[in-house]
Amino acid sequence: MPLLDKIMLRSVLTAAAVLLTLGAGFPAARAAEEGAEPPAQNWTFGGFFGTFDRASAQRGFQVYKEVCSTCHSMHLMSYRDLGPGGGGGGLGFSEDEVKAIAAEYKVADTNDAGEPMERPATPADRFHNPFPNDKAAAAANGGKVPPDLSLMAKARGAGGETDGPNYVFAFLTGFHDAPEGVQVPDGLNYNAYFPGHVTAMPNILTDGAVTYSDGTNATHEQMAWDVTNFLMWTAEPSLEQRKHTGVKVVLFLIVFAGLLYSVKRKVWANAH
Ligand code: HEC
Repeated sequence: MPLLDKIMLRSVLTAAAVLLTLGAGFPAARAAEEGAEPPAQNWTFGGFFGTFDRASAQRGFQVYKEVCSTCHSMHLMSYRDLGPGGGGGGLGFSEDEVKAIAAEYKVADTNDAGEPMERPATPADRFHNPFPNDKAAAAANGGKVPPDLSLMAKARGAGGETDGPNYVFAFLTGFHDAPEGVQVPDGLNYNAYFPGHVTAMPNILTDGAVTYSDGTNATHEQMAWDVTNFLMWTAEPSLEQRKHTGVKVVLFLIVFAGLLYSVKRKVWANAH
């Protein structure tokens, strides 16, 4: 091998080794700075054929409604999205159930005389916002605004499909006593997975915080799991359609490739 080539090969190999080392070191360094690496969970919506666990996501809506919605808005969601056909795949509540859920809330409106009034919400209304504005939200939460949860399951994590849900689940189950030597200011809480470990959100999901109508035992983990399924559905309600289309496209390509091959054999059969 000529000398120049040897030198080139060596520098390429060195560069590759350096990149590999950097790549391997990066997540560990980030984890130390930002919070522990969330463990990977086995979500039904992951992978090529993924679908939502609707029973879990519906329980998750109950958790959002009864627990999270006292602090967190979901401004992209309308009540009708919860219905059979709403929001991409729909969450599968019946039309009557959706009407009943909406009617529990009041929305500001104007009457025919142009005067401000309140009326019960309808399926077409957006989810009720717990605070009139960010200032009020921050004032009630130790200076931190509880972020809108509509797209939360996609807004966190390294970008892989299940990274966001893995983080949300880890965050919701990651409230522990602070390790020795770690100071947590009054009114804030220790969380193993939150960047910087100190969060204004309290550990809210104590066992039995909700009572599930389907008899599922509402443990802390179960509620965190269900609400994360719900948040993944709100973040990408059309996930199932996207995956079904992907499967169809691949099947089509396989059949089409076979067709092309047989045509090619026919056309060229006598040419040799
Ligand atoms: C008492 C108010 C309150 C309740 C109830 C509450 N949260 Fe929060 N949440 C907060 C606040 C405040 C923050 C911002 C925390 C911070 O920035 O330190 C937050 C942040 C979050 C975050 C973002 C964490 C991050 O990485 O930035 C998620 C996810 C979250 N909450 C989910 C939930 C879910 C799901 C529920 C219901 C099970 C819930 N919260 C209930 C107050 C609340």
